[in-house]
Amino acid sequence: MELIQRPRRLRGNDAVRRLCRETRLSPDSLIYPIFVDETLKGVRPIESLPGQNHYGLDSVCLAVEECLAAGVTHCILFGLPAGKDAVGSSAWAENGVVQQAIRAIKANYPDFYVITDVCMCEYTDHGHCGILRGHEVDNDKTLEVLAKTALSHVQAGADMVAPSDMMDGRVAAIRTILDEHGYETTPIMAYSAKYASAFYGPFRSAAGSAPAFGDRKGCQMDPHNRKEALKECALDVEEGADILMVKPALSYLDVIRECSDAFDLPMCAYQVSGEYAMIKAAAAAGLIDEYRILCEAALSVFRAGANMLITYYAKELAGAIRKGDIG
Ligand code: PBG
Repeated sequence: MELIQRPRRLRGNDAVRRLCRETRLSPDSLIYPIFVDETLKGVRPIESLPGQNHYGLDSVCLAVEECLAAGVTHCILFGLPAGKDAVGSSAWAENGVVQQAIRAIKANYPDFYVITDVCMCEYTDHGHCGILRGHEVDNDKTLEVLAKTALSHVQAGADMVAPSDMMDGRVAAIRTILDEHGYETTPIMAYSAKYASAFYGPFRSAAGSAPAFGDRKGCQMDPHNRKEALKECALDVEEGADILMVKPALSYLDVIRECSDAFDLPMCAYQVSGEYAMIKAAAAAGLIDEYRILCEAALSVFRAGANMLITYYAKELAGAIRKGDIG
C-alpha cells in the first residue's frame, strides 16, 4: 500500500501525541466558583451539586486553601446573604456577605485572584435579577444598583467584577462608576452571551436564587440565537468590557467558536451547574468514567476557542493538567 500521508504516525505513542497537541491547557486559566453563606458557620455540602460546598465567612479561607493546594489561583465568588428585600440592598452593603468574604480572603491570601459575580437575584426577595416594575425587571433602574454593587465589591478588594444579570448597558454603567472612583484599572468580565438555560437549575437551588414567579427569558438570551451572541459581545466591547463570556459551555461550543473568532478580547466560558451535575449523576450511576469525561468536556471548551473556564471541576482539572492527562 503506497500511502504518502499516514496521520496515525503522529498518534503512535504518548510522546508524539503530546508533542502534537493543538490545544494547551493551564491551571492558570481555570476559575473556581466559591459559594459563601452569611448565615453559616463552617462548611456544608451543597445537595444539588455533589462534591461542592457552601462556606461560612469563618471558613471561606479554607476554600481558598483547597484551591491553592490543587493549583487553582482564581475564583469567582457568589454570596448567600442573611437578608433579602425587593431591591436587593444586601448586594451593595459595605458589610455584605461577598464584601466580607473578599476582605477575609485578601487579608490572608492577597495574591489569590478574586472575581465577583455581580447580579441581584441572590439578594432580591423575588429572585429576579433586578428591580421590578410590575412583573418586569426595570432595566435602567437596575443599572444603578448593579453599578453600586460592583463598586462595593471593588472597594472591598475584588480584583475583577463579572456582571451576570444581562441588563442592557450594565458594562458601561459599571465602567463609569469604577472610573469615577479611581478604579479605572479594575477589569470587567462580561457575561456577554448568557442564555436562558435550564442548565442553571442546580445553581439556583445552591444560591437560593430561583425567581419566585416567571422566568429569566426577558433578560437572558434565547437558546435559538447565534447572531444575537455576536451583537451582545459587540455591545460589551463598545461599553468597555475586558473579557467576554459565553454561558453555558458544552451546549454552546458553536457560540464560543464564533465569538472567539470575531473578537480580540480574551474569551471565558462557564461550565455551569447543570453540566457538572449531569456528569456527577452519570458517574454516580456507574454509567461513565467521571475523570475522563470531565477532562474531555473541559478540553472541548478550550478547543472551541475559550481562553479560560469557570468550572466546578477546576481543582480536578488542575490535577489532570499537572499529570499530563490533558493539556
Ligand atoms: C446569577 C448567576 C447564575 C449563574 C451564574 N450567575 C444563575 C442564573 O442566571 O439564574 C449560573 C451558574 C451555574 O449554573 O453554575 N444570575
